[in-house]
Amino acid sequence: MPFNLKAPDYIYKIKPYIPGKPIEELEREKGIKDIVKLASNENPLGPSPMAVEAIKSYLSNINRYPDGSGFYLKNKLSRFFNLSADTFILGNGSNELIDIAVRTFCDKNNNIIAPFPSFVAYYLAAEQLGIPLKISGLKDYRIDLDLMAGLIDDDTKVVFVSNPNNPTGAYLPAAAIKEFTGNVRDDILIIIDEAYVEYLGESILDVLSLYESQNVLVLRTFSKVYGLAGIRIGYGIGCKELIDLMDRVREPFNVSSIAMVAAKAALDDINYVKNVVDTNESEKTYLYNAFKKLNIDFVETGANFILIGLKNKKAVEVYKELLNKGVIVRSMDRFGYENMIRVTIGTHIENLKLVEGLSLLACG
Ligand SMILES: Cc1ncc(COP(=O)(O)O)c(C=O)c1O
Repeated sequence: MPFNLKAPDYIYKIKPYIPGKPIEELEREKGIKDIVKLASNENPLGPSPMAVEAIKSYLSNINRYPDGSGFYLKNKLSRFFNLSADTFILGNGSNELIDIAVRTFCDKNNNIIAPFPSFVAYYLAAEQLGIPLKISGLKDYRIDLDLMAGLIDDDTKVVFVSNPNNPTGAYLPAAAIKEFTGNVRDDILIIIDEAYVEYLGESILDVLSLYESQNVLVLRTFSKVYGLAGIRIGYGIGCKELIDLMDRVREPFNVSSIAMVAAKAALDDINYVKNVVDTNESEKTYLYNAFKKLNIDFVETGANFILIGLKNKKAVEVYKELLNKGVIVRSMDRFGYENMIRVTIGTHIENLKLVEGLSLLACG
């Protein structure tokens, strides 16, 4: 039977996201145990223990729909940042907020500017609505704000800035971002995606002063430093008029009750977050030193992952060979970096396995 259901033309242009196989399945297929996953920039130390406890004690209430207003979590965030509760929007991961923002502000007569390589969700948010995308290259693996500003035209509606940038890990100083937000026309939404910002220690961006720009949306997530990637929760901070418009577009129960109670507890888990950031810092130093010894190039990171160069070796080959040794990394060939892979900073044991794998492959 022919398949006669047609999607709009722009849907056929989207390159489908290829998710990795579950670790258990790979272990079965390859006949190896203890595969280490350093591919998705997850938190290797497990979830916030306080979040886990909060989830457990909430479980008997999951017959109810979640509170669609996110009352308790927004109040918690309000105290955490000393901002009013109506400047927050919650999302099923910050990824959902990227989509909601684009759906709220753009139509197909607009265009969106995004850096490349950067987080694929920016491209997808535009492509799924047939909104033209203008791609801005990086300079020394860093987002080039001048280049982005130069791409702005009368139809530009959204500009994405990922800071630190995924997949390069490079980041821009607060002063540069502030200057940029001050110079861009105020009818353009600037989305500052700070998914990894907590790894920089002291937040480099003063969220308070940025959101006063009216046309800035700051995105943060509980997926990284709080270790809650699996339950999907992130938040956006913007002026209340901006948040009010986005709220009209979001699905009324877009965030699960479990995710909200977990996130609320995680914000109090200060010791856990400190340990996550400290461990990332010391393991980053360990990996930098190991890469230097192996003569492997790398980009200095402000996040929980490192982009590394493999000299003449092909990233897809190194990816396969590391997989056979029980280490999953991300090949960067899809981003045009044919000889680079991205590795998440893992626990010490995981990192030892990565370094051992790389040294056997003589990538330096
Ligand atoms: C730059 C960036 N933004 C956002 C996200 C998505 O985070 P979330 O899990 O909150 O959807 C990621 C996830 O890898 C990311 O790298």
